[in-house]
Amino acid sequence: MTAYSLLRPALFALDAERAHGLTIQALKLLPPGRPVWDPVLGIRVAGIDFPNPVGLAAGFDKNAEVFGQILRLGFGFAEVGTLTPLPQAGNPKPRLFRLVKDRAVINRMGFNNEGLAAARKRLEGRGPGPSTSPRTGIVGVNVGANKDSADRIADYAKGVREMAPVADYLTVNISSPNTPGLRALQDKGALDALLAAVGEARGESGPPVFLKLAPDLEPGEIEDIVAVAIDRRMDALIVSNTTISRPCLYSLAAREQGGLSGAPLKPLALDALRRFRAASGGAIPLIAAGGIENGADAYARIRAGASLVQLYSALVYEGPGLARRINRELKALLIRDGFATLADAVGADL
Ligand code: FNR
Repeated sequence: MTAYSLLRPALFALDAERAHGLTIQALKLLPPGRPVWDPVLGIRVAGIDFPNPVGLAAGFDKNAEVFGQILRLGFGFAEVGTLTPLPQAGNPKPRLFRLVKDRAVINRMGFNNEGLAAARKRLEGRGPGPSTSPRTGIVGVNVGANKDSADRIADYAKGVREMAPVADYLTVNISSPNTPGLRALQDKGALDALLAAVGEARGESGPPVFLKLAPDLEPGEIEDIVAVAIDRRMDALIVSNTTISRPCLYSLAAREQGGLSGAPLKPLALDALRRFRAASGGAIPLIAAGGIENGADAYARIRAGASLVQLYSALVYEGPGLARRINRELKALLIRDGFATLADAVGADL
């Protein structure tokens, strides 16, 4: 029995977004921290030394308020955002739903966030970048476009330019289903134009840039995306965001519109990861997300070719001890199978 199993019914009695808001406020009461490098689980990806491979996915700490507390809970890295150039209210509420029977979440938040400038101020508190002195933990900044923007590519370029000095890595999110038309940026021509602008905005000295993709892509689309991403020197691919598909679900809220995440996304995200691995042949690092709930899930993604994993939905169901537990379980699995380091197990199934 964990403290969270006692607290959970009270949180679940609240509207999901209200519970999330309270969780952020409660986290702020903790001192920030950072995990220590683990000799088995630590891994270098895109030139960054991750103390362990379990990251918090974007959407939880949209405004960069609690990344230090997240790292204190044992996450190897935290991705804040999605942040858009201008503050944005997002879609009408309710827009966040728990599917308890399915251990899933549906959201149609629509990039509600306080905008780049507010988040940047908070991130500046972390001090100078890696070239001068080590920052407190690894924080990625996920950027997107405002819903009403006349030039979405310019929005991404602005996000990259403004957040590069305060980010350990940047994520270009073109896979949210809740901003109409956004995912069309995954189309080959549009993607090439976007990543050209992103590359220019990052410049020679900027941090690595990751590209976050949907699980709902056709095989031909995956090949095109991989080719463009490598050509435009992306540093890693995050596979995947939420799905617009609806696998067999048992909860009433399954009929809500939005992106589905959590346990039912697991097989789809794993399949997408395998396709991206096959299309890329290991030429670009992969970061797995979607339905990861335990060490075995993380291990399966690593063996399928991921170097890192991220999660969000399972945190809702499992609580704040989850990152530590996944790391413990993953380490035991690596040792059981005779791997000296996590890096040795990346792609072991191939
Ligand atoms: C998300 N996700 C997300 N992703 C992103 O790139 N930008 C965002 O703003 C958000 N917002 C967001 C809000 C909520 C409420 C959820 C549940 C998810 C997607 C998230 O980062 C992740 O890719 C998916 O949720 C799949 O992982 P899990 O949740 O199944 O572990």
